Amino acid sequence: MAINPLSSSFLSFFLLSTTLVFLSSSSSKKLGFASEGRETIESNNHLLHHHTHTVQVRSLLPSTTCRPSTIDPDRKASLKVIHKYGPCSQVQQENSKIPTHAEILKQDELRVKSIHSRLSNKLADRGSGDLRDVEASTNIPAKSGSTIGTGNYVVTVGLGTPKKELTLIFDTGSDLTWTQCEPCAGSCYDQAETIFKPTVSMTYKNITCSSNLCYELVSATGNKPRCTSSNTCVYGIQYGDQSFSIGFFGTERLTLTPTDVFDKFVFGCGQNNQGLFGRSAGLLGLGRNPISFVQQTAPKYGGFFSYCLPSSSSSTGHLTFGKSRGGASKAVKFTPLSEASDGTSFYGLDTTGISVGGRRLAIKASVFSASGTIIDSGTVITRLPPSAYSALRTAFRKAMKAYPLTDPLSILDTCYDLSNYDEITVPTIAFSFGGGVTVELEAVGVFYIPRISQACLAFAGNGNASDVAIFGNVQQRTLEVVYDVAGERVGFGPASCS
Ligand SMILES: *[C@@H]1O[C@H](CO)[C@@H](O)[C@H](O)[C@H]1NC(C)=O
Ligand SMILES: *[C@@H]1O[C@H](CO)[C@@H](O)[C@H](O)[C@H]1NC(C)=O
Repeated sequence: MAINPLSSSFLSFFLLSTTLVFLSSSSSKKLGFASEGRETIESNNHLLHHHTHTVQVRSLLPSTTCRPSTIDPDRKASLKVIHKYGPCSQVQQENSKIPTHAEILKQDELRVKSIHSRLSNKLADRGSGDLRDVEASTNIPAKSGSTIGTGNYVVTVGLGTPKKELTLIFDTGSDLTWTQCEPCAGSCYDQAETIFKPTVSMTYKNITCSSNLCYELVSATGNKPRCTSSNTCVYGIQYGDQSFSIGFFGTERLTLTPTDVFDKFVFGCGQNNQGLFGRSAGLLGLGRNPISFVQQTAPKYGGFFSYCLPSSSSSTGHLTFGKSRGGASKAVKFTPLSEASDGTSFYGLDTTGISVGGRRLAIKASVFSASGTIIDSGTVITRLPPSAYSALRTAFRKAMKAYPLTDPLSILDTCYDLSNYDEITVPTIAFSFGGGVTVELEAVGVFYIPRISQACLAFAGNGNASDVAIFGNVQQRTLEVVYDVAGERVGFGPASCS
């Protein structure tokens, strides 16, 4: 029997490991911050009035109707960002299954596990592409019927000629952009929009196996591409939650806005897709690899993009490409990308400290340099080195002692019952990054709130002190997060959506 290159058995050829290497420990060159991390507790009493937020409990909860953000970004190449499961989402149908919070957090654990394993694979794992090994270590596919997706925020772009609108999950933690394509030779999952048909587009072209682009797949997907008998390059990508997409590697016209159109955009035309993408049409890869959307559009946008994730699933944010006419806003403070993340898909930052209620936590600088930190649009809950999380939790609980603790939720162990409060006073939490940048989180960036009787501190500790810390998307809510890839820096600015 001939092997169908698009069948899921093809996945058994794929390494779950990747060739990416992340210097997650020791060697880091973070000397500049040694003095900041000493075990001292600063007492900034003169700033005490800035050290708490008093907020209406209601303002922390999503509304049942969509309330789009009224703040307009001043740049034109801007897409509206929507939470996949919220009331603003067109891809959710009334009858489609929305995952529970426990399921979302479970999914988040799988994503984090896969990030940790990608980043901790040492050189020794390279080239372990022996087929027998891979078959033995591979387990697929995703459980059918699962509905939880990879990442949480979607944008809508146009693909093909004539243009077809497709809603894609955007993800700074991966590189390959792909969408489901007809004919679904293997299987396609249920998506809200009709599936893209390359045969009716005048601009679709297959990439051949001899093209250099085909080889870029190795670092972008962690898997060697395959080849059909007619010399078409075949990609395969599997995500941490066992979701996958396999199909032809092609080029197509991609339309972001009426004036921003990219010909020969390289993407995956997925003929066999399964897993947890909600009802979105696929994924928009915003990582650092050469085939990511960011790198492919760099001639136009200079590798510069920013986003604002909305305060709740019932509001909207933006994903914007290119600098505004006046350059980055002066209010945006930049921290250099960590060298430790070079050569990976991820955007690495150097965390230098955390403060709660204006007091810097007693965490040694070596705790953060041993783990490293990345910022990720697709991880929900911020993960910290175990000792850093425990210091944060202790300080937070102390500052919140007026409110009753309640049951933990999955990985979240510090939850409060706020049923009897209209208004609460919450200690501010601020992160310090390399370059002297301090980012104060909004109140909506501190809690994960499934229900008013269970408002949880939205942080968790890693299992291992050497696992990379991840600055997750709850913490990024309403901040303007700016990626200046050419300038090798990430910036944070005040709220640019609501
Ligand atoms: C792309 O390649 C596949 C497999 O070789 C083939 O079936 C399909 O017709 C090709 N599409 C185009 C537009 O060339
Ligand atoms: C933590 O990770 C290191 C490096 O990957 C490993 O050697 C060690 O066994 C791990 N410790 C635990 C408790 O899992």
